[in-house]
Amino acid sequence: MKLILLGAPGAGKGTQAEIVCDKLKIPAISTGNIIRAAVKEGTEMGAKAKSYIDSGALVPDDVIIGIIKERLAQPDCENGFILDGVPRTVAQAEAIEQMGVEIDKVVDIEVPDEAILQRLSGRRVCSACGASYHTTFKPSHKPDLCDRCGGALIVRKDDEPSTVRERLKVYHDLTEPLIDFYRARGKLVEVKGQSEIAETTALLLKALEA
Ligand code: AP5
Ligand code: MG
Repeated sequence: MKLILLGAPGAGKGTQAEIVCDKLKIPAISTGNIIRAAVKEGTEMGAKAKSYIDSGALVPDDVIIGIIKERLAQPDCENGFILDGVPRTVAQAEAIEQMGVEIDKVVDIEVPDEAILQRLSGRRVCSACGASYHTTFKPSHKPDLCDRCGGALIVRKDDEPSTVRERLKVYHDLTEPLIDFYRARGKLVEVKGQSEIAETTALLLKALEA
């Protein structure tokens, strides 16, 4: 299964990718997590990407296309993968097609903008593995520690309300056109982001079976 998860910032792409990758035994690939790890390690790519990510702008297409080419060539992607947060522009989607990658399904997780601010204001992420939590909707078992790896949970710098508003604007301008792009190719499945994480997972898994 080669799957793309589309949706606004905070729609629940990362949350669902973590659950579905365990069920399908395929890797979840988040360009956001890859870039944040590079910023933390202080690599050349991380240094280039930092100002974009911090301000809520998109990292340039050529950087993202390079990341994804390298990642999809790794052996764990042979039996499929879940792309979380990529592609995010028509140019990135076209580049993935040009790599000869045959995507099976594109799931668009729909959540209204008003719900996004609430979700992102309570989000905590693992500083080690990138897993997502929420103070109300998905608390970790031990306060401020990741259930998966024990890493410290932190607030993402770009979850500040003014940056979230910028990310939403960028999403509507540059990423939303991908809904029509994949609908035209017969790949699009629309899943309404529900108030419960498990409800969204159930709808998503049902959509994948169809
Ligand atoms: P990225 O890390 O991809 O961020 P994003 O798309 O803005 O999405 P988020 O990670 O904020 O949200 P999510 O949909 O994963 O939601 P989550 O599951 O955490 O990208 C960050 C930046 O990197 C970009 O701004 C850009 O600069 C750069 N970048 C990355 N990829 C790029 C690309 N391809 N091109 C260019 N630039 C790129 O859920 C959010 C919260 O809600 C959590 O707290 C969760 O617990 C909670 N929650 C989830 N589902 C539910 C539910 N159903 N009910 C209640 N709460 C829920
Ligand atoms: Mg995410």
